Amino acid sequence: MFDFNYFTPTKVVFGKNTESRVAELVKEFGGTKVLIHYGGGSVVRSGLLKRVTDTLDAAGISYVSLGGAVPNPHLSLVYEGIELCKKEKVDFLLAVGGGSAIDSAKAIGYGVANEGDVWDFYDYKRQAKGCLPLGVILTIAATGSEMSDSSVITKEEGLVKRGYSSDFGRPKFAVMNPELTMTLPDYQTACGCTDIMMHTMERYFTNGGNMEITDALAEGLLRTVKKNAVILRDDPKNYEARAEVMWAGSLAHNGLTGCGNDGGDWMTHKLEHELGGLYDVAHGAGLAAIWGSWARFVYKDCLHRFKRFALNVMDVDDYGTDEEIALSGIEAMEDFYRSINMPTNLRELGVKATDEDLKLMAHKCAVGVGGEMGSAKVLNEEAMLEIFRASM
Ligand code: NZQ
Ligand code: ZN
Repeated sequence: MFDFNYFTPTKVVFGKNTESRVAELVKEFGGTKVLIHYGGGSVVRSGLLKRVTDTLDAAGISYVSLGGAVPNPHLSLVYEGIELCKKEKVDFLLAVGGGSAIDSAKAIGYGVANEGDVWDFYDYKRQAKGCLPLGVILTIAATGSEMSDSSVITKEEGLVKRGYSSDFGRPKFAVMNPELTMTLPDYQTACGCTDIMMHTMERYFTNGGNMEITDALAEGLLRTVKKNAVILRDDPKNYEARAEVMWAGSLAHNGLTGCGNDGGDWMTHKLEHELGGLYDVAHGAGLAAIWGSWARFVYKDCLHRFKRFALNVMDVDDYGTDEEIALSGIEAMEDFYRSINMPTNLRELGVKATDEDLKLMAHKCAVGVGGEMGSAKVLNEEAMLEIFRASM
């Protein structure tokens, strides 16, 4: 078991109609001038944005708005947001949407609170010394960004997608009303469930310092999301299932399922970020497309965890050698992805990559992780390329 810090300062306000409390929450955390940041328009179409601004108006809180955060959010909009905040003397950020709007808001917050180019943080050049306070109204259960310390931004020049993590970026509050996720396209619901499970799996498939309590939480979370993803496939308006998945999304990425281990593997995410940067695919679908190839490449080096996963999460029969059980677990996971209409390779993801493209992604990925990375198995550029090739 490893020592750990567990820091989850986000106040969670969970349940039906909780968005009506947003003005009270902004005030509680000292906001007087708010930037409302959102995505491509789903919050306008659903009427949520209007309800939020009505609530702020009624409470006498002034605000400016900036929409347009795209999936795999762009650095150029972050720069625009920083300028707007400085011009309007904004002292609080309110992200209304999913991981993309939240991550873009976090980046804006770093840019306002620190001198110099905000991309430096994502380019591993220096550490932020603060972030503008941020609140969230979540509309999709997926990234866990509503409680996490991370933010992922794509620099359009060179299509470089990078993450930056800092406790300064953890939201002050997260409003989570599962009903708000009922307008999601089925594909996005499934992408979200995939991402939630992967955040826990990245921390689960490690060779370092596992704890019984952490494993139990992780396996319970994985089983819960697996079950409820199928319920939502058949019954998208099921409130209980929406709620289970939404809360799981936060717990999967707020650090809980990493307590006591070595921090996790994270290579499926790193490989996916190259796909997201180059082909602009939905994050969850990209993860599903790459995971099986990654798992088959690494499982022998982390056999005890893959066996445990097969038995305790995928309900595989305890029959055969450890390797056979581990492989059955990987196959069962891929069957699950197919059952919720997620891809299990790059072809199904719709990516037509040449071998040169795969080499470029492997190279960028290796540079991004500083040469090599992984806990289930340490991967270098050659290994990354092999996984990309296997996923075609
Ligand atoms: O942009 P709008 O119009 O809002 O539409 C979005 C978008 O098209 C739509 N949507 C969201 N809520 C909706 C809705 N449509 C109808 N009804 C609703 N209630 O869904 C699409 C996806 O939204 P997005 O915010 O992009 O999804 P997600 O939350 O999956 O975020 C993905 C981004 O987060 C990054 C990913 O790499 C990707 O860039 N990640 C962030 C992490 C973090 N900060 O901790 C960790 C993750 O591993 C991930 O890398
Ligand atoms: Zn993710």
